[in-house]
Amino acid sequence: MKEVVLGLLGLGNIGGGVWDLVREFGGEVEKRTGVKLRIKKALVLDVKIHGGKEVPDEVLTTDKNDILEDPEIQIVCEFLGGEQPAASMMLRALENGKSVVTANKMALSLHFDELRAMAGKTGAGLYYEASVGGAIPIINAIQSPLIANHIEQMMGIVNGTTNYILTRMTAEGAEYEDVLKDAQRLGLAEPDPTADVEGYDAAYKLSIAGSLAFHSRVKVENVYREGITKVSAEDIAFGREMGYVLKLLAIGKDNGDSIEARVHPVFLPADHPLARVDGSLNAVYLYGHSFKDMMLEGRGAGDAPTASAIVGDIIQAAQNAAHPMPYLREDPLPVADDWHSKYFIRMKAKDAPGVLAEVTGLLGGEGISISTMMQKGAAPDGKATLIFITHEASEKAVQRALKSMNPEICVVENVIRVEE
Ligand code: HSE
Repeated sequence: MKEVVLGLLGLGNIGGGVWDLVREFGGEVEKRTGVKLRIKKALVLDVKIHGGKEVPDEVLTTDKNDILEDPEIQIVCEFLGGEQPAASMMLRALENGKSVVTANKMALSLHFDELRAMAGKTGAGLYYEASVGGAIPIINAIQSPLIANHIEQMMGIVNGTTNYILTRMTAEGAEYEDVLKDAQRLGLAEPDPTADVEGYDAAYKLSIAGSLAFHSRVKVENVYREGITKVSAEDIAFGREMGYVLKLLAIGKDNGDSIEARVHPVFLPADHPLARVDGSLNAVYLYGHSFKDMMLEGRGAGDAPTASAIVGDIIQAAQNAAHPMPYLREDPLPVADDWHSKYFIRMKAKDAPGVLAEVTGLLGGEGISISTMMQKGAAPDGKATLIFITHEASEKAVQRALKSMNPEICVVENVIRVEE
């Protein structure tokens, strides 16, 4: 039996989940792995407030140095969230030769290079399975069992809040703002939902998982990002009529000489494996040259599912004498600022002769070919709703064509990419 001594930075939702899992299931984990987990210290803001957990007084501390500078603590688990002071504390732990386990996608994504470099220098381990997809073992999968693959594509539903909102909008024909309010009331969306609904959370996750899948650093500032706030019940209903389901996806593609990295709403064919992943579930769909396609699905958030991934990482950190460092190429591939996709374009146009010809002429002028078109009869204001689905076209060409449209004749109300 090998005892590992742990220090927890934070004892909130996730830290509390880890505390519970270690207390309730640590004995079983020890039988299975030979590793006994001992939580020596937990950093809290106030020793009187620790989430109602029965934690012995001697475990609680308000001094980070009781963890970061204690030579007996071998593994530091970071649950503070946010960029700082989480990143600096992780860096210090690694500098002191302690392995770090974290679920903090923001601090990790923004300080990935620094943290990796420090881990490489001191030989400490850096583990972050829980940072992407919660309990789903995607980080391990791409680094180990799937390593003998050229991963060409990764498409993920990696944000449960937005998937919950879109699922309800789809099922109920409800508008975004109404479902958001309800989700906030139920505690399923944050009071300030920006990080989730504007796609920041998904972009951090794509930056981490994409860097590993494509072995090339994908910085979060290079990820194209668009959230779900502009999506209307009308878009979802029209898409449905045409056989599509709307999801917020994190998409990574290896095009050989560049990487695509983008987060935005996507219409998927209703029979796509990701289209049926509903509610707050997460899923990652991968295509690799030898395994072909695969989808991993599960809970992407919540204290117990996240703790499941964290304890898994702790055991790996305890068992690995040499901590493997994922290979990333030294000359990262550029992240593409243009890509090809199909497009759903919804516009309001004057219902008059020649309007359709003008609109399709502008699209055609940019080399954009139309695959399907639908007109919904004239509204009382004499305007009709036009929906186009294009064939594959360049993002930049679509943006140029839409910009050139005369607002007197047609107003573009939304554009949603379509992946098949
Ligand atoms: N806020 C995230 C979500 C969970 O809604 O999926 C933590 O990454």
